[in-house]
Amino acid sequence: MFICICQAIREREVDAAVRAGARRPADVFRACGKNPQCGSCACDMRERIAQTVAGDRAAAPNLLAAD
Ligand code: FES
Repeated sequence: MFICICQAIREREVDAAVRAGARRPADVFRACGKNPQCGSCACDMRERIAQTVAGDRAAAPNLLAAD
């Protein structure tokens, strides 16, 4: 499923960016090598980032302990 329609960024790409250290939508765009266009995906992207961070912490609490 796409999080960002303008730049065709999928949930799995957001997840990969988060696992590489992204914590803000701007970080995700940078990690994907893309620039935001309309910005309407920002809320959904923030929510996905938070879910992924929380999920990763629940699955492997020691992996992200340095955040
Ligand atoms: S939907 Fe992401 S920039 Fe437009």
